[in-house]
Amino acid sequence: MTATILPTPADLSITPRDRRFGRDAATPRLWHGGRVEATAIYNALSATFPIGEAYFVESVRKFREGAPPKLAEEIKGFTTQEAIHSREHDAFNKRAADAGYDLSKLEAQVEKRLAVARERGPYANLAATMALEHFTAILAHQLLANPQHLKGAEPETADLWRWHAIEEIEHKGVAYDTWLWATRDWPRFKRWKVKTKVMMYVTRNFVVDRTAGSLELMRQDGVIGLKAWWLLLAYLWVRPGMFRKIAGAWLKFFLPLFHPWNEDDRHLLGAYARIASGTEPKRKVRRAA
Ligand SMILES: [Fe+2]
Ligand SMILES: [Fe+2]
Repeated sequence: MTATILPTPADLSITPRDRRFGRDAATPRLWHGGRVEATAIYNALSATFPIGEAYFVESVRKFREGAPPKLAEEIKGFTTQEAIHSREHDAFNKRAADAGYDLSKLEAQVEKRLAVARERGPYANLAATMALEHFTAILAHQLLANPQHLKGAEPETADLWRWHAIEEIEHKGVAYDTWLWATRDWPRFKRWKVKTKVMMYVTRNFVVDRTAGSLELMRQDGVIGLKAWWLLLAYLWVRPGMFRKIAGAWLKFFLPLFHPWNEDDRHLLGAYARIASGTEPKRKVRRAA
């Protein structure tokens, strides 16, 4: 196997940081700067993580057998990181429930999507994981690159999201490399066709489901109709405009020579060294009123 096929940096370290967040105090209901739409989109994303990341692990693990040692090691780091993310987002989701949100509709929708995906066999599941891992990696990049996204958020909750983002960047190539390994005997065009089709399908569901999930949570805060749509779309597409800002990185996935590590963005971790090192001392968190 050559570096042109697997351009994951040789010195990459995928380091699981077994951190716990938000255990000392309740999380305020509108933890994201008191904003209904900002809280809603992050909560809607979090609702998908425990179930979704367990699915990623399950999909990649099916191809672990016989993988080259470097890839096998990366898969180990990836599965450990994702398992801890699931635990922390499960705890976060429980705090959202304690604050009064009902996430059950959102979770049921993820289960429904995954049930359909599982019917399609291991290669389709691996491709879906690869596509969704690209999403998490570009969201993570944007989240760390632009402080506007978490501006005003409750500090410990913001750290949870940054910690998750750091590890998503570290393991962003694992599902992709597993895919390259699993499909090493496929013709190039078939590989490209399948990954393109799956990315289009996954993107449609991601945008539709996260929008619907956010609107459902906003409804639970009493914000409905045109006002809810306006607030949410302006937040996602205009300011701070997360979806608009990841659009270019999303498009790169379709390039024939795409690989997640074509862009080495580990420099972003430096700005959050206290989190990235995993040695940050536990801070006292003010209890919500
Ligand atoms: Fe994760
Ligand atoms: Fe991930």
